[in-house]
Amino acid sequence: MEKERRAHARPGAGSSWAPSTVLVTGGAGFIGSHACVELLDHGYEVIVVDDYANSTPHVFARVERIAGRFVGAVYELDLRDRRALSAVFDRHSVDAVMHFAALKSVSGSVARPVEYYDTNVGGTTALLRTMHEHGVHRLVFSSSCSIYGDAGPGLLDEATPPRPTNPYAASKWLCEQILADVCRHRPEYTVLCLRYFNPAGAHPSGLLGEDPQDVPDNLMPYVAQVAVGRRERLRIFGADYPTPDGTAIRDYIHVMDTVEAHRVALDHLADEPGMHVYNIGLGQGSSVLDVVAVFSETCGRAVPYQMVPRRPGDVASLVADPSAVTRAWGWRPTRDLSDMCRDAWRFQQLNPHGYAGSARRPGPKG
Ligand code: UFG
Repeated sequence: MEKERRAHARPGAGSSWAPSTVLVTGGAGFIGSHACVELLDHGYEVIVVDDYANSTPHVFARVERIAGRFVGAVYELDLRDRRALSAVFDRHSVDAVMHFAALKSVSGSVARPVEYYDTNVGGTTALLRTMHEHGVHRLVFSSSCSIYGDAGPGLLDEATPPRPTNPYAASKWLCEQILADVCRHRPEYTVLCLRYFNPAGAHPSGLLGEDPQDVPDNLMPYVAQVAVGRRERLRIFGADYPTPDGTAIRDYIHVMDTVEAHRVALDHLADEPGMHVYNIGLGQGSSVLDVVAVFSETCGRAVPYQMVPRRPGDVASLVADPSAVTRAWGWRPTRDLSDMCRDAWRFQQLNPHGYAGSARRPGPKG
């Protein structure tokens, strides 16, 4: 791919406060790596910390190839290692943080709840403490629609009372409550909490996508691996939900829309102090069978599946009322489920074994 350095004026750069250097936790992960591209594309300096628990440093060569710029520095560390994290803040003048780093498997959290609380909540408090010690008070936090729990059919707005049904969701809800409380007591903080629904798809170049280190837990990467022949068939967890086709409904949102929302959030970190919560979704529900049908059409072959019992901790339906973020920022997602399937399929075809074996970044390493 042609390396082209894009000169972008940062929106918001004319206002009294505008971030220039952004620390991205979990920057090697699925959403974090796409966020790095989005930030580099828009002129930000990007510093990454990641422990590679479910990711690989190989991704940065691709991020930099797409963006035509280097990530400023990459540090391998666990957020709970506050000494190591503090050294990163000592070394770089961080203006704002995007906090993606977390464990995210529903079934993993049911099997290992303490690990989920320790990593997700402990990682967030360690980050907050370190930010506080270094006078950094602006954060975009990755939350999840899963905190709404079994809220029933219909569109969920931000006022829907959270009722998490698994430790993963509960850990995100705990983080939200901690962040809200910090903002209540410390007026210098602004936290934009993005509750995203189900990010899927890939960068349109086919260079970046979702590459879980283990058997995929999430639907779209599993379907893609079946389609490419890496796995025999999809197991559909539950055909007895109270939905039109009996399979669970989710609001899938393109990863490029998801990271665009994060980048736009940076322009609003100086609007008003305190915690502000927004749903990031399309506002359209798709069942598991809908996803299988659209993916099968995209890849030109039927994706084989079998129905198996429900997965513990899952719920029937989670669909966003995404109107609040549009009212607040004038932003809305533009890509639909066929775009997600097309881009996920392109990534899977070009990288049948994910990032394995691809080149490491040649640039400086922090
Ligand atoms: N599913 C299957 N078979 C699979 C995988 C998933 O039938 O092999 C079903 C699930 O049961 C669920 C739907 O597909 O009904 C979506 O499952 P995902 O695992 O992809 O996503 P979740 O809705 O469980 O959401 C979780 C977190 C979100 C996070 C999302 C993507 O709760 O916060 O994963 O990481 F955004």
